[in-house]
Amino acid sequence: MDLQLTGKNALVTGASQGIGKSIAFALARNGANVAICSRSKGPLEETAEEIASETGRRVVAIPADLSKTEDATAFVKQANEALGSVDILINNAGSSPGGVIETLSDADWEQSLQLKFMGYVRTLRVALPIMVKQGGGRVVNLIGNDGVKPSYWEIAPGAANAAGQNLTKSLAGQYGKHNISFAAVNPGPVRTERWEGLVNAMARDMNLLYTEADQLAPSSIPLGRIAEPEEVANLVVMLSSPLMHFVNGTMIEIDGGQEKALMDRLRDR
Ligand SMILES: NC(=O)c1ccc[n+]([C@@H]2O[C@H](COP(=O)([O-])OP(=O)(O)OC[C@H]3O[C@@H](n4cnc5c(N)ncnc54)[C@H](OP(=O)(O)O)[C@@H]3O)[C@@H](O)[C@H]2O)c1
Repeated sequence: MDLQLTGKNALVTGASQGIGKSIAFALARNGANVAICSRSKGPLEETAEEIASETGRRVVAIPADLSKTEDATAFVKQANEALGSVDILINNAGSSPGGVIETLSDADWEQSLQLKFMGYVRTLRVALPIMVKQGGGRVVNLIGNDGVKPSYWEIAPGAANAAGQNLTKSLAGQYGKHNISFAAVNPGPVRTERWEGLVNAMARDMNLLYTEADQLAPSSIPLGRIAEPEEVANLVVMLSSPLMHFVNGTMIEIDGGQEKALMDRLRDR
């Protein structure tokens, strides 16, 4: 299927590694030009080089710390100037510490909301007026299935994710009249650099060996494994396509069947 992404201009946040890098790669392989950001300049430029040389698409690397308003604003503005439009915005840069309420400090909570929620708000605040002016656009927010699957050990990511899910739905209600549509993707565990840190923290807080902690997630997933970043990227790229524009305000889980919300919701009635 032709996803009609050729020549589209896409912004992907947090794309020097992990899921964001896979998304930027997959968009470019499907013909889009991409602007990517992360804090570290070196790995970001290496990733941009790698994507451009493999796909032949235009790839712009703009270092930015999205926990800072001025950086987020500059990223979207510079990307728009360099590429000529903002057809697609993928909000992906986020990290939120695992842990229980007894061990999480104010700084942990603050850091979680600053990037995973406010980072998305900051790019949207600049990108949405650009999309309105150009007559439409598409936003895909990478959230996480613990926003709808509360867990005491993922209480900080869960809170930030629930806020992001609410943001996605709210904006879908507001911006449809401007031909801008929104989707949220809720991954379960994905094997990225970030995942290893989470397993280490889980092992520490639950008094387990790393290998024992690493098995907890697969054992809770019907497919018996965690996702690869490319699997999440495939879904995000499909949702970025103009063919999916009517999928608006929708949240899609990609977690191998880990989240059983329909059953939980029915049971609660
Ligand atoms: N991996 C999972 O199991 C999982 C599950 C559910 C949801 N998610 C969500 O998926 C998204 C990507 O996760 P991931 O596992 O791919 O993360 P990752 O491997 O840690 O990569 C994060 C990316 O974001 C960048 N980044 C971090 N802080 C930033 C900041 N302040 N400003 C700009 N860029 C920043 C990082 O580069 P620098 O450090 O150089 O800035 C890196 O490029 C996140 O929103 C995460 O919450 C992940």
